[in-house]
Amino acid sequence: MNKATAIAPANIAFIKYWGRKNASLRLPCNTSISMNLSASTTTTTVEFSEREKDEIVLLEEGGFSDAEVIRVVRQLDVIREYVGTTLRARVASKNTFPKSTGAASSASGFAALTVAALAALGQHISEKECTILARLGSGSACRSIPDGFVRWEVGVRSEDSFARSLYPASYWDLRDILVVVEQRGKDVSSSRGHDMVETSPLFADRLKAIPGRIARVEEGLASRNLSLLGNAIEEECLNMHHVMQTQTPALYYWTDRTITLMDIVPHWRREGIPVYFTIDAGPNVHLICEEKDEQRVLKRLKELSGIEQVIVNKSAPGARLVDTHLF
Ligand code: PMV
Repeated sequence: MNKATAIAPANIAFIKYWGRKNASLRLPCNTSISMNLSASTTTTTVEFSEREKDEIVLLEEGGFSDAEVIRVVRQLDVIREYVGTTLRARVASKNTFPKSTGAASSASGFAALTVAALAALGQHISEKECTILARLGSGSACRSIPDGFVRWEVGVRSEDSFARSLYPASYWDLRDILVVVEQRGKDVSSSRGHDMVETSPLFADRLKAIPGRIARVEEGLASRNLSLLGNAIEEECLNMHHVMQTQTPALYYWTDRTITLMDIVPHWRREGIPVYFTIDAGPNVHLICEEKDEQRVLKRLKELSGIEQVIVNKSAPGARLVDTHLF
């Protein structure tokens, strides 16, 4: 049977991927580091057969846009070329979280698609190779394949820009409390944003500062030191957004509610709750804390207005095959 189903987590970047030195190969300008998210996943079933054309559906309200379907077909083409087949696919997908809200649906989506498509075609390839193929669909998707805490190497060529696990999910009981302040999809895709990065006068300095921040994040992870990790990831988040905001055209992903949260988190810390924020290409805020402080953070969030949804994520394993198909 040429059919397989995979589930893949979204991931939150502690060190962000922003800007690429080769757009078609999605080769990044810097190494990035992330954590997989347990409650923000995509499940995808792929079946190959002698059909006339690919059929792609998203099993949720709104479905896929035309542009998203084109991107999925392009990734199927990448896999068909890699495997050497002309078979067409039927693809169905569903998410456990709002699509296009900075919760990185493209990361979990392209990771699940790549793993399911390769398995449906009977391909057993190394995890490293699989991350390289997923990267061609969406850069950050490569980080959703290995387990737990993941590092994506900047690389010089396609073959050496791959992702690998630094620590398994069970290594550190961190929480990513995703605070959804807006369900609307983003106006400017991160793909377009990456292409304009050189227009920011701050970008060159960002690249110079990244190795130091990577060292702090890795040291924070190695010693399970949340204040070391948290301070580095907040600095990193602000730096990436400053670059986005000074690009031409400028990208402002924050809303007033995003800023309210960014403003209040340091107050909570001063009151004794160790929690740190980070934000990807969207308005929603990821609050990073340890399991022991989860309830205290959730209680504080209840006191705030304007929050649409709160999703509590644990650190999670990477993409994997499952037996239950969507069709
Ligand atoms: O993989 P893309 O093209 O969706 O880019 C993701 C970019 C950020 O989410 C902003 C940062 C990251 O490293 O995930």
